[in-house]
Amino acid sequence: MTHGSIEQKLQHLRELKAKALLGGGPERVERQRKQGKLTARERLALLLDPGSFREIDMFVTHRETRFGMDKKKYLGDGVVTGWGTIDGRLVFVYAQDFTVLGGSLGLAHARKITKIMDLALKNGAPIIGINDSGGARIQEGVDALGGYGEIFYRNTLASGVIPQIAAIMGPCAGGAVYSPALMDFIFMVRGTSHMFITGPEVVKAVTHEEVTFEELGGADVHAEKSGVAHVVADDEATLLGLIRKLLSYLPQNNLEDPPFVDTGDDPLREAPELDTIVPVDPSKPYEVRDVIRHVVDNGEFFEIHESFAPNIVVGFARLGGYSVGIVANQPAVLAGVLDIKASDKAARFVRFCDAFNIPIVTFVDVPGFMPGLDQEHGGIIRAGAKLLYAYSEATVPKLTVVLRKAYGGAYDVMSSKHLGADVNFAWPTAEIAVMGPEGAVKIIFRRELAQAEDPAARQKELVDQYREAFAHPYIAAARGYIDDVIEPRTTRARLINALQMLSNKRVTLPPKKHGNIPL
Ligand code: HXC
Repeated sequence: MTHGSIEQKLQHLRELKAKALLGGGPERVERQRKQGKLTARERLALLLDPGSFREIDMFVTHRETRFGMDKKKYLGDGVVTGWGTIDGRLVFVYAQDFTVLGGSLGLAHARKITKIMDLALKNGAPIIGINDSGGARIQEGVDALGGYGEIFYRNTLASGVIPQIAAIMGPCAGGAVYSPALMDFIFMVRGTSHMFITGPEVVKAVTHEEVTFEELGGADVHAEKSGVAHVVADDEATLLGLIRKLLSYLPQNNLEDPPFVDTGDDPLREAPELDTIVPVDPSKPYEVRDVIRHVVDNGEFFEIHESFAPNIVVGFARLGGYSVGIVANQPAVLAGVLDIKASDKAARFVRFCDAFNIPIVTFVDVPGFMPGLDQEHGGIIRAGAKLLYAYSEATVPKLTVVLRKAYGGAYDVMSSKHLGADVNFAWPTAEIAVMGPEGAVKIIFRRELAQAEDPAARQKELVDQYREAFAHPYIAAARGYIDDVIEPRTTRARLINALQMLSNKRVTLPPKKHGNIPL
């Protein structure tokens, strides 16, 4: 080739690139399609702005010769890497190509990924990894394991510096799951994506449990039970669209603010529906997402972890065009109680928002922490401490609205003034106390009730007295723990005004290497 004409050289280059674009060949691409999966490059085309993808390292091949690997070389080595834009903003991407050696990860494949991660970190832009792989390339042995380790190391260095998003679009097994797990958000597709440490066969051999791929590590299992998956979609195109949407709420890196978007929704808009949303009977549930939708711009709410720990709701929205993270107790599920999973879920979300300069708005209606043997033995103390820690350490603007109950330790935890919240509002329906009237009366008047002629009537009387004395926001407001009691309909305007007031907020934490969050 060295002495050929320029036309020949160009022709050779074009042929090589065309060959790389074939991946594992038409048969394997067909097999991929039959499973309802797109190819790596098709996925990137859907994820990125049209025509923006710039691929690098198409010529990379592995150097393994054992087990006949010298005859199994594919240009690109089973992963497509490069950069492009989403809504005009730079992102770095990699997409594993299952049609090439099952998307398995050898050293060359890993080094392509780490090159992209290094570029993302140096240039302060998000990284999105599309995973579809049989895991460590068995023929490459420890080189494959080392390759994974180099990725994990970079995931950790990048944590809190650039947003990291993992899309799982096929198998993701063994230690391979830990790169996504170290990233900020995991997206999974129903039916075709699976994550597990050991597959069904190993599970059967070790624990004698018979499970299918779906039962062990399908999208719904990880969305509802383990909390590993943050967002689930029915098909690949929808999932890639959701990643684009998520990024619209996020800054490029930890030194930037999230983008301001003119949403056209009037910052002063009142929402009269909110005045009657909380039922008069304090034991009645309501849907907290209705509160969120009436408050935020155009009712748009991007929920994270929708099916995991549904007793707390978290997600992104905009208020007057500013990106905010929302945390809300959900009275419609378990009365909005805080349990282990809810604490973990909210703590992780709060820390993400804080790392990326996204103000946190907390809507409180919480009866307390979940009692019980399961919860105590499962470590509710540790989990609750995580949420306390996360809120206390967060230096972004913190706004709180107490809608109804704020009882006990859960009052403190849910972004109270005492943990450094900047602006704390309460609705007139708020009840801020050590516990609810029924529980409180049974404890402080136990003796009197035991001796009462008509205990039930006396209890009702005492409950009414207690409710009168404590079940409102005005004691907390008298102490200045609540800055203002507001009419629910004005919540949106008051929050947006507070966000503007806090737009130059600066808080510095004591210098330290890092804290020791109770993990
Ligand atoms: C090398 C692999 C491979 C791997 C798949 N292939 N996984 N090659 N190393 N890990 C190859 C297959 O040999 C096959 O090649 C092609 O990819 C397609 O695989 P199939 O098995 O035909 O596909 P399918 O039936 O869809 O099954 C997909 C699968 C299965 C469920 C992922 O391939 C599988 O179980 N693979 C092994 C998974 C695994 O145990 N990986 C190691 C995990 S441990 P040919 O040429 O025959 O078509 C790990 C440790 C990471 O990853 C540690 C980090 C610290």
